[in-house]
Amino acid sequence: MVLRSSVARIVPILALFSLTLRAYGQEQAPQGTATALLEVQVGKSTAKVSPMLYGLMTEEINHSYDGGLYAELVRNRTFQDDSNKPVFWTVVQSSGARASIALDKSTGPSEALPVSLKLDVQKADDTHLAGVENEGYWGFGVRPNTTYRGSFYAKAGNEATGPVTVTLVNDYSGERTASTTVPALGGDWKQYSFELKTSDVQSSSANHLMLEVGHPGTVWFSLVSLLPPTYDDRPNGNRIDLMQKLAAMRPAFLRLPGGNYLEGNHIDERFEWKKTIGPLVGRPGHEGPWSYRSSDGMGLLEFLEWCEDLHMDPVLAVYAGYSLRGEHIDPGPQLQPFVESALEEIEYVSGGADTKWGAVRARNGHPKAFPLTYIEVGNEDWFDKSGSYDGRFAQFYDAIKKKYPKLQLIATTPVKSRTPDVIDDHFYKRADQFFDDTHHYDKTSRTGPKIFVGEWATMEGSPTPDFNAALGDAAWMTGMERNSDVVIMSSYAPLLANVNPGGWQWRTNLIGYDALNSYGSPSYYAQVMFGTHIGDQVVASKLEGAGPRVFYSATQDSAKGRLDLKVVNASSTPQAMDISLQGASNVGSTATLISLSAKSPRDTNSITEPTKIVPVESSVQVMGTHLKQTFAPYSINVIELPVK
Ligand code: AHR
Repeated sequence: MVLRSSVARIVPILALFSLTLRAYGQEQAPQGTATALLEVQVGKSTAKVSPMLYGLMTEEINHSYDGGLYAELVRNRTFQDDSNKPVFWTVVQSSGARASIALDKSTGPSEALPVSLKLDVQKADDTHLAGVENEGYWGFGVRPNTTYRGSFYAKAGNEATGPVTVTLVNDYSGERTASTTVPALGGDWKQYSFELKTSDVQSSSANHLMLEVGHPGTVWFSLVSLLPPTYDDRPNGNRIDLMQKLAAMRPAFLRLPGGNYLEGNHIDERFEWKKTIGPLVGRPGHEGPWSYRSSDGMGLLEFLEWCEDLHMDPVLAVYAGYSLRGEHIDPGPQLQPFVESALEEIEYVSGGADTKWGAVRARNGHPKAFPLTYIEVGNEDWFDKSGSYDGRFAQFYDAIKKKYPKLQLIATTPVKSRTPDVIDDHFYKRADQFFDDTHHYDKTSRTGPKIFVGEWATMEGSPTPDFNAALGDAAWMTGMERNSDVVIMSSYAPLLANVNPGGWQWRTNLIGYDALNSYGSPSYYAQVMFGTHIGDQVVASKLEGAGPRVFYSATQDSAKGRLDLKVVNASSTPQAMDISLQGASNVGSTATLISLSAKSPRDTNSITEPTKIVPVESSVQVMGTHLKQTFAPYSINVIELPVK
């Protein structure tokens, strides 16, 4: 299934899947359920909707990048994932050949990549090859008639080892689905490139990659890479299906690079942006906080290009002197190098190509500066029990505001020393907690800092949310939307998860995938529905007589002349509603209802049932300025109304 960039396009493709909804509608207000009255005062704005309200937050967790969005297929491509052995690689010896492999810490293609895989071939010939194979990230996703672009760094020992044969092999049938040869290797480290083209093979994730030689001798390999076609054909780019799913959410921003991933477990495991830019052979990678090492193939520039591809603004989080195991740097001279690094990072992102770090970005392939408005100082600094955040924030604030007065600074917890422009709030809750908290921001001061709900999710369902979670999410979103004059940005977290056993570390994640396929959870579709019906004004409205688990928001899109009503029925009974559009002089006679529902709140989508729960579109008759609608039990609904 290919998702396109709006729910309106998705819905017809998926319409076949959800016939259950049709039992409820305009005529059939079921007996015994009270009819609620929703009065909407069309054109009467109570607040502006922030155009940045919905965005993305990701980090290297759950194999979000390596083994996820970042399209690289080779796992442990630089042999640094384990310091003792070449994990995810095994020796291959066809009968009659003999070879062994080992990690070699004495040679590598660069200072950043000082180790390599040493392949010693004792016996091999043209028909009895020997070499190594890589298992990929739970397989290699192989599709028919597709060109895969690859490369590796290698050098040979003195012996003539002959060409290297590179092959994609099916795990079960042993079929060589694509193969090519790279000419004889030289004695010095050098990069070799190749292409693998599949024919009319069956799509499958059960494949591995082999590198083989047909002569005795020694070969060293490093930075072995293989990429399928990427989104917008970006070199070193992103996986197409996942980018399409993200595009369909119409996100306004990307909070990068994390999360805990920004901080690292220890100070020297933080996201050191300078080590993530430039040619891959110069990137050492680093230990992440989520139990595996990051290749840093998704480096700072790749994050920014991802923003460019999906028309998102980067919300740049800078390392602010606190790491997860409680290490911190006191404000003052010791912190200053980190402040300088943040200033340089800002220049790398947004400076002209005539600035020092803008010029580096230009040399890295992107002369044009990226837009930048928001800088987040640290992450979840309420965990820093030393009490140093107030001072650390002040030091970053003063330096950044001095050089970049227009930048808006986000604090990760309230501070007293300075007034942040924005505070980042995080909520990981159960659905019933969100149902009870939809008025969280109703009374928040409108004169203090704005709010960024930088991480939030209903944590029910694993590895991706079930329908109850989607109901909790949707209820929570109605509250953020109603208050989006103060809640200017929000991002669900975590966004991505490789659903293979061992692939994910966080319990509930929005989008799931394996090496070949991906799916949106019910919560994902709720996000798509809200993100594509954001409007620009919250309109005055009143709901009376509805059940306790019914939530709604009403926004208007002035440019489109459209009223978007979101109604969430989180109860087990249908909710009949009379909707009255007051003050509207001209209402179209037909509205569109987009509905996401499930028979049971525990129903969900999965890698094997990816489209069990998807939005379904239908028409609703409008009678003058009134319409009647019964909302199904366990349903999330958007009604699009053409109004003037
Ligand atoms: O989203 C998962 C983690 O939750 C983030 O890394 C961290 O900021 C939060 O604690």
